[in-house]
Amino acid sequence: MGKRILLVGGGGREHALAWKIKQSPLLEKLYCAPGNAGIAKIAQCVPIDGEDLPAIKAFVLENNIDLVAIGPEGPLVAGLADVLRQEGIAVFGPSKAAAEIEGSKTFMKGLFAKYNIPTAKYKSFTNADDAIAYIKKEGAPIVVKTSGLAAGKGAIVCQTLDEALHAVKRVMVDREFGSAGDSVVVEEFLAGEELSFIAFVDGKNVLPLAGSQDHKAVGEGDTGPNTGGMGAYSPAPILTDQLHEQVIKQVMIPTVEAMAAEGRPFKGVLYAGLMINNGEMKVLEFNARFGDPETQPLLMRMKSDLVPLMEASATGSLAGVSIEWDSRTALCVVQAAGGYPGSYKKGLPITGIDAADALADVAVFHAGTKLDGDQVVTAGGRVLGVTALGDGIKEAQQRAYEAVDKINWDSCYCRRDIGYRAITRIEK
Ligand code: AMP
Ligand code: GLY
Repeated sequence: MGKRILLVGGGGREHALAWKIKQSPLLEKLYCAPGNAGIAKIAQCVPIDGEDLPAIKAFVLENNIDLVAIGPEGPLVAGLADVLRQEGIAVFGPSKAAAEIEGSKTFMKGLFAKYNIPTAKYKSFTNADDAIAYIKKEGAPIVVKTSGLAAGKGAIVCQTLDEALHAVKRVMVDREFGSAGDSVVVEEFLAGEELSFIAFVDGKNVLPLAGSQDHKAVGEGDTGPNTGGMGAYSPAPILTDQLHEQVIKQVMIPTVEAMAAEGRPFKGVLYAGLMINNGEMKVLEFNARFGDPETQPLLMRMKSDLVPLMEASATGSLAGVSIEWDSRTALCVVQAAGGYPGSYKKGLPITGIDAADALADVAVFHAGTKLDGDQVVTAGGRVLGVTALGDGIKEAQQRAYEAVDKINWDSCYCRRDIGYRAITRIEK
């Protein structure tokens, strides 16, 4: 008997997960809650929000689901994995207590301090005046972060003192991010290049995926406000074998051991966002899930079946497991609604998706899309993740943009420079 799997989420990451799960010979039936217009083509979408824990639980029990894979942080931090495990359901994703590593930056930074995990110097505040006094003492550049979840937009990198004071006002006084800003972390600014180091974890073993990098800022040259991610690629030329060893030994294993020692064993995907500067490495953040958009290029390169990997993470049996990768490069360009990460329009009809998807070694992963009758329309800030494989980063980039250029809607925006850091590095 094949597996009946429920995937929770409805972004580009979940479309890539659904696309990959769908290729598994172990699959009997794939459901997705709530999904999007792209996922609806390959899975049965059910209109349940991932954070509606009783509704997800009822659906899982009624439909004899064997495995639940949880994509986004919201349902993890809300405790969906715990509710399902109590019913004896296999879950790919961490418990509420383990997801705190992403859900509370204050918790995460405290863990780093206690277990000597390399990170930026910081202080945590619940009072705006204290935060301001600290910022004035430290000076700019400096980074102001909401402790709670803010869809990738809660880290404000401030080049000047004025910007930093304004950031504190936005987060703590105007409460732009709601309760996510009840507590803030004020952190030393780190220069360097970012690396996403993502691994399957089963409570004790760490099985790393290939390296990847994303572009978080909305503007070309990595300028402007942060977003959830405007594009990504894998492999990441910055990740040498030596750096890989260093990340495993100094970050991933110590963190997994620390979480177990704290009584919060981590099972699922652990994502370290690292800043690399002249071979020195510091952790910017941990996420308790796959990256979005890093998952899109990663899964296009993954040759191994994803389903046994998710099961091994869920059942604590990752020891001795390995992953096979396509040696080519995959690159994903996010097409977003004009205005994102600020306000933007929804409901705009999109053209050209099928023509782009039909190109060889290209997959168009949907994020914020929905069906309006037969027409795919925009329904979010990040709308599509156009992903292509190529021999090397330049070919992958050229193929991705060839596909991007077939797609259009009113006010569609994308960065034209995804992958530039990797290209600069290999050309050096
Ligand atoms: P975080 O949510 O902590 O990962 O922050 C989101 C993004 O903000 C990171 O991916 C970086 O681009 C940037 N950022 C966060 N912390 C720092 C820091 N200490 N120094 C420089 N940039 C940072
Ligand atoms: N791409 C960054 C993230 O998923 O948090």
